[in-house]
Amino acid sequence: MDLEANARALLLKNRRRRGEHQYTVPSPGTYPYQWLWDSCFHAIALSHFDPEAAKEEIRSLFAAQLPNGMVPHMIFWEKHLLLPYFLIWHNQSTSSITQPPMLAYALWEMHRKHPDMAFLKEVYAPLMRFYRYIIEKRDPWKNHLASIINPDESGEDNSPRFDTLMGVKSGVSFLRHMYERWRLVEANHHDHFNEANCMRQNFWVNDVPFNVILLCNLQALGRIASLMEDAEGERFAADNETLIRRAMREHMFEDGVFWSVDGKDNRKFKVATWAHFVPLFANLYTKKEADEVMERHFRNEKTFRSPYGIRSVSREEPSYGSNKFWRGPIWLAPQWFIYKGLRSYGYTEDADFIRDTFSKCVHQSSFREFFNPETGEGRGARNFTWGTLALDMND
Ligand code: GLC
Repeated sequence: MDLEANARALLLKNRRRRGEHQYTVPSPGTYPYQWLWDSCFHAIALSHFDPEAAKEEIRSLFAAQLPNGMVPHMIFWEKHLLLPYFLIWHNQSTSSITQPPMLAYALWEMHRKHPDMAFLKEVYAPLMRFYRYIIEKRDPWKNHLASIINPDESGEDNSPRFDTLMGVKSGVSFLRHMYERWRLVEANHHDHFNEANCMRQNFWVNDVPFNVILLCNLQALGRIASLMEDAEGERFAADNETLIRRAMREHMFEDGVFWSVDGKDNRKFKVATWAHFVPLFANLYTKKEADEVMERHFRNEKTFRSPYGIRSVSREEPSYGSNKFWRGPIWLAPQWFIYKGLRSYGYTEDADFIRDTFSKCVHQSSFREFFNPETGEGRGARNFTWGTLALDMND
């Protein structure tokens, strides 16, 4: 199987057109809409062979931007009655929450490969508005950490990092968890999705991956602002990056790793997940700290390292299950984040391990949503696009 050729073919197969808009669905059967961070992954993969399609993917995201600057995590270009998500969100055409802010990173990667100043100028204003929304509305009391108001905003809907706050047990079933998240959407809807109220009353987490991703994106935003000769935009990106870096160290770092915290009182949610490794992506660990994380956690077969990559949750956690949604299996976007981090620190052999296991999963089980870390068996959605990030793992 030629992984890269199949990845290109899948991105083409999952491409949809709606009027003047074009986007890619993560999985035709299970996820037949547009999703925010998925589309950023698609744009990164597409930038390797179809830069025009990558631009369309970003344009359709901004076409759905809300007046306050938020880019919603789901866009319902078409309504599927079998999956009536739009009823859940009290909204006709989009959801009412966001997802990890990967837009600036994707745009910078696209520009690096195929420079196009006209396109950057076209998207610059909505891009800035999105990051201003994240910095201002998701940190109303200036704690210098960006907050999420629903587990789905982390991109890891069912992660045990949120169990305490969600009031569920570590063995919670998929359906029960979904019900609790639906109740949360109802509560946030009751608060008119006013961010500060939702945080105070319903759900308020400063999540490690979300903030790490924000840091890398502020770096990319700064570079784009500099190309746009927008000194104020550059300062906005640089100042906030410094403040978030400092706040993450102050409030999240303990026992050699970063932990997601409760927004109300900075209480750490000490659940061992792949969030131990994502800080490598933003260079948050010193080299000495990173060496220790690699030795204690990354190369530890009892906890994270499996024959098919890095488990999403440590095998020693009570919530761990090799087939449980976001509670153990291998997801390929997290592997990609980890791979990028390992490369930037120079852990070449470990990065090769990730690249090899990534392709082993897809070779054995095709483009599935997630993989059993012990057997490599594919689970969840079929024709799922995250495996196309293989196109971006050749450096
Ligand atoms: C699942 C994932 C989320 C992703 C979506 C579409 O809900 O948890 O991260 O964006 O599927 O692929």
